Amino acid sequence: MKASNLPFFVFVVTLNMISCNEKTAVQNPIDPSKATITQMPKELGQELFEGKGMCASCHKADIKVVGPSIQEIAKTYREKGASIAAFINEESGPLVDPSQYEIMKTNFAVTKAMSAEERKALEVYMMSFE
Ligand code: HEC
Repeated sequence: MKASNLPFFVFVVTLNMISCNEKTAVQNPIDPSKATITQMPKELGQELFEGKGMCASCHKADIKVVGPSIQEIAKTYREKGASIAAFINEESGPLVDPSQYEIMKTNFAVTKAMSAEERKALEVYMMSFE
């Protein structure tokens, strides 16, 4: 390569690097958020149920611990055509075990701070239990 071509060569290489960087900069916002965009409500619901919702500490799939089993709750809500999302936003009252409602109520601070989408995801997850 002739010495006089060097500045041009450097220019082209630099340009390439810049455009490559731009490309990753455009791709990056897509990749990390992919998880939330493509995450199904049921998966999100399970994540919330076992994670920040802390629901799993009182609700198990098929046995009563502190709270009724998820199966029992889903069965009652199916029979009555009721909405879990509404219940955990304090828009509707207890249908499963009203005598223990006060214990469940302590968790409304968590669920009412959630987005409507998150509450719906919890409903979808719980209603998937047969
Ligand atoms: C501290 C224990 C505790 C935690 C944590 C808890 N629950 Fe409960 N839950 C209860 C108890 C006790 C009941 C029974 C009282 C009742 O039916 O309201 C209940 C009942 C329910 C019911 C049935 C309500 C009805 O109509 O009677 C739903 C739905 C429910 N919980 C969802 C959740 C979800 C979702 C979470 C997490 C965001 C959660 N619970 C976290 C103790 C808890």
